[in-house]
Amino acid sequence: MGNAFRQKLLRWYRTHGRHLPWRQTHDPYRILIAEVMLQQTQVDRVVDRYHRWLKRFPTVQSLARASSAEVLKEWSGLGYNRRALAVQLIAKQVVSEHHGQFPQDVNVLMQFKGIGAYTAHAIAVFAYRQPVPLVDTNIKRVLGRIFLGYKQLERKRDEEDVFWELSRQVVARSKRSYDLNQGLMDFGALVCTAKQPRCPTCPMRTICKSYPAILTAHPERLRVKTKRSEPVFFGQPRRIWRGRILRYLHTSSSATLQTIGRAIQPDWKANRLPWLKSVVHTLEKDQMVVRRGATVHLTDIL
Ligand code: ADE
Repeated sequence: MGNAFRQKLLRWYRTHGRHLPWRQTHDPYRILIAEVMLQQTQVDRVVDRYHRWLKRFPTVQSLARASSAEVLKEWSGLGYNRRALAVQLIAKQVVSEHHGQFPQDVNVLMQFKGIGAYTAHAIAVFAYRQPVPLVDTNIKRVLGRIFLGYKQLERKRDEEDVFWELSRQVVARSKRSYDLNQGLMDFGALVCTAKQPRCPTCPMRTICKSYPAILTAHPERLRVKTKRSEPVFFGQPRRIWRGRILRYLHTSSSATLQTIGRAIQPDWKANRLPWLKSVVHTLEKDQMVVRRGATVHLTDIL
């Protein structure tokens, strides 16, 4: 991997990198919270919630001690509630099995339920400054465009190991893995954006395999992410309905299906009961609610 790329990226990052709160800490717990929030929510919205979360649960111990209802409440509005419970389960495990210290080894980190390859590597590089690679949608797009070219990127987009290897080469033998990886994220968010990359002012133009052809590329060919389709009901993906059900249960703690239906849909009709039952069933399977007779309750088993 050319040094030119690294130098350009580091120089760009020095002047244009964003000052984000999770870049002012090496605490693996804080890094975990930021990265999990950032998996689903825009940076601008995460900043406030990140601060709020850390006020409420400043340490891994405090999160481990909380009730799952408190945790879900603090997460509310961020979507994918099961991630909040997963994060709490991780905290409990770190406290009970690792003396409250997050492991440093990527392979050990990946054994936690809820920590995938991305999060494990993010903790290793951002908390422990290890020279490990990191791949998310933004990094994949940036490296793919610069080193493969956007057409090749389109062909290779499902071959994840190609991008991990590219990333490995970026950080190999570098003491700057932290800045290189954070820099790649900002570069992907601010310059090498998905739909309208800012090529005219891009410092990578001279070494980029996609430039200048990318300027006239069809917009469809610039998308990298393989879109996962979620089941949609009444115009909303299922997770939105799941979120509304949980939010309602936070205020009332238990309710019948009919009551929930009326609470989450202004145009509720009784013939939607089988649908609602199936959604509640997915929450039961994820152990977020339990059914007792005709009523549904929030779980507090963690
Ligand atoms: N998106 C995911 N992780 C990020 C980070 N550490 N900084 C900025 N954006 C991100």
